[in-house]
Amino acid sequence: MKENKKDWILPDLKSAQKRTKNDIPIERLVFDLPDVVRDMGKARKYYLRTYGCQANERDAETIAGILEAMGYTMTTSTDNADFILLNTCAVRKNAEDKVFGEIGNLKHLKLTNPDLILGVCGCMPQEEEVVDTILKTYPHVDLIFGTHNIHRLPQLLYQVSMNKERTIEVFSKEGEVIENLPVSRFGTHKAWVNIMYGCDKFCTYCIVPYTRGKERSRLIEDIISEVEELKGRGFKEITLLGQNVNAYGKDLKEPANFALLLKSVAETKIERIRFTTSHPWDFSDAMIDIIASFENIMPYIHLPVQSGNTDVLKIMGRRYSIDEYKTLFVKLKERISDCAFSTDIIVGFPNETDEQFQQTLDIVDFCQFDNAFTFIYSPREGTPAAQMVDNVPKDVKKKRLAQLNAKVAQYALKNNKAYIGRMVEVLVDGPSKKNPEIYSGYTRTQKLVNFKADGVVSGDLVNVRITDCKTWFLIGEKA
Ligand code: 5AD
Ligand code: SF4
Repeated sequence: MKENKKDWILPDLKSAQKRTKNDIPIERLVFDLPDVVRDMGKARKYYLRTYGCQANERDAETIAGILEAMGYTMTTSTDNADFILLNTCAVRKNAEDKVFGEIGNLKHLKLTNPDLILGVCGCMPQEEEVVDTILKTYPHVDLIFGTHNIHRLPQLLYQVSMNKERTIEVFSKEGEVIENLPVSRFGTHKAWVNIMYGCDKFCTYCIVPYTRGKERSRLIEDIISEVEELKGRGFKEITLLGQNVNAYGKDLKEPANFALLLKSVAETKIERIRFTTSHPWDFSDAMIDIIASFENIMPYIHLPVQSGNTDVLKIMGRRYSIDEYKTLFVKLKERISDCAFSTDIIVGFPNETDEQFQQTLDIVDFCQFDNAFTFIYSPREGTPAAQMVDNVPKDVKKKRLAQLNAKVAQYALKNNKAYIGRMVEVLVDGPSKKNPEIYSGYTRTQKLVNFKADGVVSGDLVNVRITDCKTWFLIGEKA
């Protein structure tokens, strides 16, 4: 591979951090590829592996759509791939370590197939440190591009594949909101729908506002036409995606907010609507009213608390006290009937004391979450928290995580037990791999159910009687 270093566009976290008041233009691309590019993937296979959150999963569907428009077909094996792309996550160090491990493992494939192209995209390339490491340590990586460069994939791949040039293009500033990119949906009855990109909350531990840029919303009409199109194709469930959906519309000229958007989506009458993630700050009463009043908005809320202690929340930059969180939680529970809740929690934030951690356990006792995603704090270069001196030893952090997980599991089981004997509606995902008589699917409250049935297919909505449960799933029989 040639290296024209002057053509490289490298990441710059400082400029990624800047926010301007400029309106974000919406660009309606007509996605049209020149013939040479359209044929590039003919008889070639791509392997795409995605790490991290739903935003990455949804990006993967666009990447797949673009590659398929270029003639590539998907393969699930790295052994017969012509193009391997790792779509990465930067939220914690262990997510990054996995990717570096995988890049190392893939090296030998280049020996048997010298034409193989290896690419890294997603959130990791947005970090200067990561690109430096790849350049120094992994010369077999041919292509690096960031979260704001996905629409440029055809040109970038052309450069690598045809011009044999090692290519790096990482824009640090978000560009236009781009509509009409091709998409290859991985699901048949459940789909992700982006409603906004980026995050402006700048929680002090979090890299996302740097890797995904400024908050920018899609227009309501574009979102609704995507939902209508999915509904027309037989999709039963959509999940509206944003790092913080409460902020939807704040950047648009036309008055728009998440409550209005949710109402319009509910009026399409698509069977099931979910949304994620809601920040506890700015969760409006209007949103609660809409969630409570439409049958097709699922009663399940992911409400990240992060810590049970107000001082820690303050240092995290979370903008709410633990009492405010509790007040919101109680209000949601009262107003939305039979609502399930999950949360995200970080333990071992710099200098977290035993007492402060105890309050995190207390909030779990108070809310009795159905599920919680729990993490040990991981310093992220460039974020304010990474500058903080941390006196909490690693083994203390590990102990806290284990203690927290035990408590979370205890409430998950308790909540599941309350389902025994109940009849619930389940959206069928498909038969179990091990036993074709057992199907799995999810309740309205996002609980996994494994149940006995025959003659059902994925995408069916069926009633299931719950007969038993485990900590992380319900067991039942189709009624
Ligand atoms: N360390 C640990 N957990 C983190 N999260 C975000 N940044 C970090 C970090 N630096 C967690 C938060 C967030 C979830 C998606 O990941 O809990 O809600
Ligand atoms: Fe990160 Fe906070 Fe934005 Fe969530 S709201 S993506 S935790 S900065």
